[in-house]
Amino acid sequence: MELVLEASEVSKKFGGKIALDGVSFNVPRGSTFGIIGRNGAGKTTLIKLILGFLRPTDGKLKVIGGRPGENFARIGYLPEFSNYHPLFTGREYIMYLAEMSGLKSHAAASRTEELLEMTSMAGEASNRRMANYSKGMLQKIGIAQALLNFPEFVVLDEPFSGLDPFAQKELRDIIASLKNKGATVLICSHILSHLEKICDAVAVINKGRIIRHGDMASLLVSRGRYRLQVDKAPARLLGDLIEKRDLAPADDGAYIIEEKIPGGKEAILKTLIDSGASINGLAEARKTLDEFFNSAVSGRDGE
Ligand SMILES: Nc1ncnc2c1ncn2[C@@H]1O[C@H](COP(=O)(O)OP(=O)(O)OP(=O)(O)O)[C@@H](O)[C@H]1O
Ligand SMILES: [Mg+2]
Repeated sequence: MELVLEASEVSKKFGGKIALDGVSFNVPRGSTFGIIGRNGAGKTTLIKLILGFLRPTDGKLKVIGGRPGENFARIGYLPEFSNYHPLFTGREYIMYLAEMSGLKSHAAASRTEELLEMTSMAGEASNRRMANYSKGMLQKIGIAQALLNFPEFVVLDEPFSGLDPFAQKELRDIIASLKNKGATVLICSHILSHLEKICDAVAVINKGRIIRHGDMASLLVSRGRYRLQVDKAPARLLGDLIEKRDLAPADDGAYIIEEKIPGGKEAILKTLIDSGASINGLAEARKTLDEFFNSAVSGRDGE
């Protein structure tokens, strides 16, 4: 498995303040990797180290097989905060970057149109000065510039920030299409419901340390918990099972079986079947990424 990013025992101190403390993880080529953590946990610092804007105090980073900064032209980057030249229009700005990156004016113009279309910025707003843009419009231009030269590694720091729900969904689709084309994507975001849908793996950073990481499916499995869909069960029996904490009602009319001992769920199912109930579905329950994150960091301060 080829790795696009390898972080080994990476630490970063700002004066006496430890922003990252022995962070190790790998990002395989073609995967979408999420980094989550509370404000000040160290996510943006990690991204700046990956890009080579900061140097680690300790540890090693290998990015597309080289040192951070070495393969910069193969990376697309959306910063957390951007400063654009206010007198450019959005279209002029992307065009300017396209020409700077070496495209001849015809190719630069067509790539600019493509990117403006992709980020829904091709309309009238693209010809207004960026000084007058809304936050979401600036964010869309930021996304467009990050994707300009078909990067094989895309690093997005809070990409959903300022986007309306419609534009957030569009961005999810853009990220999915990057993945389909083989790009590797690293995303920091607080919008966990989106990361849950788009990421293959995730790392939780807390106070500069990775406290949990792994592939999404295995992190979200909730061992010993099953979702049960049941019909025609006597209300009294359901009440009893809920009182004994064998079952808990879920929001959508289903129930969660809390298996306390091996074989516990079979016993519960048997009781239900014997009472004449029909079982319409049984599946391993999954936590949401939000639930997983909250339990991972609960009781721990953010910074
Ligand atoms: N240049 C710097 N000089 C001093 N301290 C810094 C610097 N950059 C970051 N820090 C500190 O490092 C810690 C991590 O900051 P970082 O920006 O990486 O957090 P974050 O996880 O991205 O937070 P957020 O979710 O709010 O974006 C914070 O305590 C921050 O104050
Ligand atoms: Mg940040």
